[in-house]
Amino acid sequence: MAPKQKLIIDTDPGQDDAVAMLLAFASPELDVLGITTVAGNVPLALTQENARKICDLAGCTDMPVFAGAEQPLARSLVTAEHVHGSTGLDGPVLPPPATPLQDGHAVDFLIDTIRSEDSGSVTIAPIGPLTNIAMALRKAPDIAERIGRIVMMGGGYFEGGNITPAAEFNIYVDPQAAAEMFAAGIPITMMPLDVTHKAMTTAARTAAIRAIGSKTAVAVADMLEFYERFDEEKYGSDGGPLHDPCTIAWMLQPERFSGRHCNVEIETESDLTMGMTVIDWRQVTDRPHNAFVVGDLDADAFFRLITDRLAKLP
Ligand code: BDR
Ligand code: CA
Repeated sequence: MAPKQKLIIDTDPGQDDAVAMLLAFASPELDVLGITTVAGNVPLALTQENARKICDLAGCTDMPVFAGAEQPLARSLVTAEHVHGSTGLDGPVLPPPATPLQDGHAVDFLIDTIRSEDSGSVTIAPIGPLTNIAMALRKAPDIAERIGRIVMMGGGYFEGGNITPAAEFNIYVDPQAAAEMFAAGIPITMMPLDVTHKAMTTAARTAAIRAIGSKTAVAVADMLEFYERFDEEKYGSDGGPLHDPCTIAWMLQPERFSGRHCNVEIETESDLTMGMTVIDWRQVTDRPHNAFVVGDLDADAFFRLITDRLAKLP
């Protein structure tokens, strides 16, 4: 077997973040070095606690979990309880976490790990606002050339936004951080709404997860049934978009996704379009490519992967 891909997940759980973490924990191709948490869907006090509850679920109580930024770089925090519930992880009733919160700041864990592991060997999967990533790059610019790849969920182009007409939530919460990350010269794979809106949970897909019958699978089905209600009520869809696991699934099965190398710039000034990801999909400028922007996936294969892997967890 090929060597495991080393991975740090930077997250703001979030039910879809939870599935991304569980998919990574269940995948023998990946070596999850740690989880860094950030304020986003809910404040940091909840995201770090939720991350630890998810580690418990998977039986990974020795997973290092760190708390990071409490606030975006330059703006007030915007949260998404309207989607994720007041805890950020509404749905199942989960006990207080046994997985400990590590001493030290998430940003220092990111920097120390990138510096100590072989250059180019560590992937970072940011699936929340990009505050921790930008703070790490500001504090230790030398890590930019040592990060193997960033595989992130955020942005949208053809689909527009989901928190404003122009902006996707993760980028909107901290546009400055996103702009700094996209400018850092790191190889980036981007999962915008254009692809994640094709990854709909659907009643049948959630039922298949529940049918696994394990503690983790039932908790995930409970999470998804809570999470789906927002899109079902607002948009009349069958299920909700399972955004964040697209990052981990791309690492495992990139052949199930398609996209283009593009230039991506972030709007950080206009009130109307704050946090918009301006993706030069048609290459109308000669601005340099700074991301592989994914636009499509094989949704059935994606949910098969998630279901198969969740079945390996307790
Ligand atoms: C993103 O925002 C959050 O609500 C989800 O967890 C996902 O990371 C989707 O816009
Ligand atoms: Ca998230």
